Amino acid sequence: PRAAPQRGGCVKATATAHANIALIKYWGKANEDLIIPITSSLSLTLDDLFTTTTVDFSSLEPTAADQATLDGATVSGRPLERICGLLDLVRERAGIDQPAKVTSENMVPTAAGLASSASGFAALTGAAAVAAGLELSDRELSRLARRGSGSASRSIFGGLAIWHAGDSDETSFADPVVDHGFAQEISLVVLVLNSGPKAVSSRDGMRRTVDTSPLYESWVAEHAGHLREALAAVADRDLPRLGEAAEANALGMHAAMRAANPPINYMNDASCAALQAVKDARAAGFPAWATMDAGPNVKVLTSTKRAAELEAWLQSRLKDSVPGMDTVVAHAGPGLTVTR
Ligand code: DP6
Repeated sequence: PRAAPQRGGCVKATATAHANIALIKYWGKANEDLIIPITSSLSLTLDDLFTTTTVDFSSLEPTAADQATLDGATVSGRPLERICGLLDLVRERAGIDQPAKVTSENMVPTAAGLASSASGFAALTGAAAVAAGLELSDRELSRLARRGSGSASRSIFGGLAIWHAGDSDETSFADPVVDHGFAQEISLVVLVLNSGPKAVSSRDGMRRTVDTSPLYESWVAEHAGHLREALAAVADRDLPRLGEAAEANALGMHAAMRAANPPINYMNDASCAALQAVKDARAAGFPAWATMDAGPNVKVLTSTKRAAELEAWLQSRLKDSVPGMDTVVAHAGPGLTVTR
């Protein structure tokens, strides 16, 4: 029998969560079911890219199935199953059995490697938990969001966040990084090269890389040093040191992907031109280091002070080789907010 939300549950809640970009990456799972990663990761939560999600446990017939829309379009198939899976975890924890109506608006180009699953599942987790009457700490929200999409664990927090890999559901969660305001001094120039859907999902791509890439193990071995360097760089407010660790970590990840069987290549000609332009920007005296995720876009880590100037320089540099390129400058953004 289905029960109504517990007393104290507010039935309906709306949450906003911001996208994050990993400077030191998560790529590969030690436990697929619980989404325990092989590596810890470090990210910057962004200001202008976010998802707002409303979860309502009161508007559907008790026997109905969960329903979801994203930007007004009905969600079905695998994406809906992933939403239902997260809702089931929340219902189980709250002791309720009510179907949910989920309404989501994305301010992030979906599936373009701009981590819409991170903001999406962080917002879904926050809204569903509050609507179900749960009072969870940020750490519990991070653990729960992780079950929807690993990178979502980091979007619970603003600024710089570290997701500790851990080795169990209890020990795998994100934390804010104590940075004394350093997150505000760094920004990302996002070069939007192709906002079409990606060819291989992160989920499938990372499984194939772990299972078949002869370079995966060496990337994991180097990863520990990259993360150590990046955290030391944050503590020292040393952007070049952070940038070098981030770029090495991302390029190593993409090399491991390309060595998988069959190969996974998220880079297209525009990505390669953009990576070269970032090197040229550095040679021209800009602080500029590239990172890439499961798509062709290139994100350029730079100082907040010089971000606009670097954006203009890259636009002019790439206007002939990458016609139609869009750019977005993203600064550090806030953590999850939930309203009833
Ligand atoms: C390349 O978090 O989307 O962006 O846990 O399977 O949902 P699942 O994967 P997801 O993977 C993100 C991979 C990445 C790197 C990162 O964000 O750390």
